[in-house]
Amino acid sequence: MKAYILCLRLILIPFLLPVIGAAQKTVKTFPLSSLDLSKMKQTYGVPRVYHRGDEKQMTIAKKTFGYGVGTRIKSALWIDLARGADRFIADVGVDDDTTNIVFFTKQNFKVIGDGKKLWESGPMDLGDPSKHIDIDIRGIDTLVLTVVNAGDLSSYVQMDWAEPRFMISGKDPVAISAPEDKAVILTPKPRPVAQINGPKVYGCRPGSPFLYRIPATGTRPIRFSAKRLPAGLTLDDQTGIITGTLKKRGDYKVVLKAQNAAGTDTRAFTISCGDKLALTPPMGWNDWYTHFDNITDQKMRKAADLMEQNGMADVGYQYVNIDDCWMNATAVRHPGRVGPLRNAAGDIQPNSYFPDMKGMTDYIHAKGLKAGIYSSPGPTTCGGYGASAGHEEQDARQFANWGFDFLKYDWCSYSEVIGPGPYTSEQMQKPFRDMGKYLKEQQRDIIFNLCQYGMDSVWRWGAEAGHSWRTGADLGLDIDIFYDVAIKNALEYGSWSKPGGWNDPDYLQIGFLSNAPCKLSPTEQYSFMSLWCLLPSPLFYSGDMEKLDDFTLNILCNPEVIEVNQDRLGKPGIISGIDSTKETFVMVKELEDGSKAVGLCNQGLFPTEVTYKWAGDKKSKRQAVRDLWRQQDKGIFQNEFTTTVPARGVALIKVSNQQAQLICCH
Ligand code: GAL
Repeated sequence: MKAYILCLRLILIPFLLPVIGAAQKTVKTFPLSSLDLSKMKQTYGVPRVYHRGDEKQMTIAKKTFGYGVGTRIKSALWIDLARGADRFIADVGVDDDTTNIVFFTKQNFKVIGDGKKLWESGPMDLGDPSKHIDIDIRGIDTLVLTVVNAGDLSSYVQMDWAEPRFMISGKDPVAISAPEDKAVILTPKPRPVAQINGPKVYGCRPGSPFLYRIPATGTRPIRFSAKRLPAGLTLDDQTGIITGTLKKRGDYKVVLKAQNAAGTDTRAFTISCGDKLALTPPMGWNDWYTHFDNITDQKMRKAADLMEQNGMADVGYQYVNIDDCWMNATAVRHPGRVGPLRNAAGDIQPNSYFPDMKGMTDYIHAKGLKAGIYSSPGPTTCGGYGASAGHEEQDARQFANWGFDFLKYDWCSYSEVIGPGPYTSEQMQKPFRDMGKYLKEQQRDIIFNLCQYGMDSVWRWGAEAGHSWRTGADLGLDIDIFYDVAIKNALEYGSWSKPGGWNDPDYLQIGFLSNAPCKLSPTEQYSFMSLWCLLPSPLFYSGDMEKLDDFTLNILCNPEVIEVNQDRLGKPGIISGIDSTKETFVMVKELEDGSKAVGLCNQGLFPTEVTYKWAGDKKSKRQAVRDLWRQQDKGIFQNEFTTTVPARGVALIKVSNQQAQLICCH
């Protein structure tokens, strides 16, 4: 018997050892909230931690959880596990607390381990029962917990990691920062040889003062000339500024020439004199996201000086636009901006920071640049300053007399004129149609920008009133929603944008804004510009002109990238290859020369390969690919082009048949 027991023991020893070993290996529970959650990045607000016994408990579809971490998209927490964790366990879902929801779309939870997706919830809606995660994470070094939108736009809703915990047998996990994204300058410096940039077509109206500064890079002095410049126009050969007036309608096919010590460039340029303006998306600067209610005449002049000096005007930026707060108000925080809204004749009154409106526009015009102004159809602007209600025609005349070339007209307090909503289409359109008509009656070419945040599907009728229209709410300073905004634009209303009338998803907010560097990573800043060029959107920089660094200028001033935006066909960027997670896709824009500008887009948190496949006949199978940011030919490719796109990046390329490549890019 003894021998039998001994024998049994011996047999069992190999099986019992791991059990004994496992019993010795202590596995402990480590709640997610024990990490340094200040490392958790989210677009809106900060994470909210719930503890057992808190007065307000975390609930998902009415189920209560003892503890957890609530976050808002786009949310990502990077965690160093040092291979010490065994399992990650949690429940996830949309929090039942719907206070603060501005708009809501479905959201997607993901757990990513060493760059690979380990778990994904799929789109989750408000009221959906929570989903349970219990995954093996042994051997993983870096874990990322992320929540991104799986609908159209971002939302302010809270997403819950409920009872989230690690089972660990090694070192404690540590929250870490996302990998650093270095600001690399991709755009080569302009070559010394003279090069003409900007649009190839320009619209004006008969009888209006004409003003166009030929955008050109290259070492100055540059000597400008133009073949077949129509009668009525004069070109200053030193500055490249064309002025005068055209009497007769028609398309004037001019050849512009720029020459300097290093060489010569010519460019076919059509001056189209008729009713249409903004034949390519307007480009310029608007002060809003830098100066808000601190804007002054001096700052506007300074912005014009800088646009002329820093190279922006040389690649096509033209408008220098004041936003809100230039007029008097009845009560605002700056005494120098308080005063009568109108004089006895009913003329709108600029505040003391704008002592000479005509002097200011003359100053801007002398540089070949243009000036923009702002008002609202309501009694006051959004900032509470005097606006145009009841004086629309008089203001249109005043803006023209002051010499403005652009008006942004912002809905703001218009409901005070028509009472509380809901409104009919006619009510929503009327103030913009009226002002559009008054502006057209002026003997000045004034670009009219409708700012009513997309109401009544403005893209459907905006071109009947003006030249561009804001498609949604302000991007604000938390701008990492730019990617979603661009996708929505392209998928839903991109095709309404055309020469003469453009979707406007708000300003380019890169570089230094409102006293702080923008919150976007360097890669995201390239993506912002790439997407705005592909849509194509008006290109208005709204950062601080006085703090423009080389990195930001390299993004703003790449002529090959801008050419995508300014292409004469004005075709919208079309998205393909997108799924419900909207992580990778391509955006393709047809260009006038038969080639295509293509954005290979990666909204995800990790670099990934994105492929653009071109279809077509035998001849088009071989295509030349050019990297537009680096201004480098990548070579000839068969059927498709694949590249690794950085996290949140866009690789912007031009794809042309070889013949087109030879013609376009010497
Ligand atoms: C908002 C508008 C902004 C800015 C601001 C000025 O309504 O969308 O772009 O113009 O008003 O108060």
